[in-house]
Amino acid sequence: MSEAGASPSSTLEIPPHSAVPRHVAIIMDGNGRWARRRRLPRIAGHRRGAEAVRTAVRACVDRGISYLTLFAFSSENWRRPAEEVRLLMKLFRTALENEVAKLHASGVRLKVVGDTERFDPKIRKLIEQGEALTAGNQRLTLTVAANYGGRWDILQAVTRLLKNNPQLETIEETALAPYLAMSYAPEPDLFIRTGGEQRISNFLLWQLAYSELYFTESLWPDFDAAALDAAIASYRTRERRFGRTSEQLEQSKRADVA
Ligand code: FPP
Repeated sequence: MSEAGASPSSTLEIPPHSAVPRHVAIIMDGNGRWARRRRLPRIAGHRRGAEAVRTAVRACVDRGISYLTLFAFSSENWRRPAEEVRLLMKLFRTALENEVAKLHASGVRLKVVGDTERFDPKIRKLIEQGEALTAGNQRLTLTVAANYGGRWDILQAVTRLLKNNPQLETIEETALAPYLAMSYAPEPDLFIRTGGEQRISNFLLWQLAYSELYFTESLWPDFDAAALDAAIASYRTRERRFGRTSEQLEQSKRADVA
């Protein structure tokens, strides 16, 4: 297993509470609309989106957030026009070529989760090299979900678990957890989706069980440090009960202070 051993499952234990979320997961939506409003091609929106990624990484480092997970390309995004897919792949490749050294210098560990088999071998090589170079960094773990889908993740985890344990008749949560793509991270405290839609879109289906959900009309290229602060401020107002009553929560807070 991984450091997630120290991060309890939200359905089995009450996770530790912190004013700053430990793990923020984001669906970066609205690049296309940002471009359309300016009569620019959609790819111009994705380019600005990549800049917003840089801003978000820096803001998370500055705020002491330990894990940032970004949905860059879903299992379903292959359905987009071939030219847009090609340009998104090119953008991902350029970002890997140009940004990994900077991420490393900032103490960021890069992880990529998803079914990367379908990617160009050059992209796969860059992912492998980027992950290896930054593996020891501890300031922020930046996870890029690429050709990722929540259902894909659960199914690949079950498949690998059963391959290693063909005798299993029932599956315990604790047995499955180490096989999930993000087993190295605690579950997200805060989920953000930009672009106005209010859905999970097959993102981290398992891991979002008890995450606080935050939806904003801001389009991803406009999502800056102040927008992140607004999301964190909303998160701070939430009562994270994890299935308990408000009274139980108050009692446990009093016990923590005593
Ligand atoms: C959603 O906007 C965005 C994507 C499918 C791609 C996200 C990619 C980036 C932000 C750039 C590259 C990322 C990295 C990690 C280097 P949309 O196209 O669905 O927007 P729309 O809903 O307005 O059409």
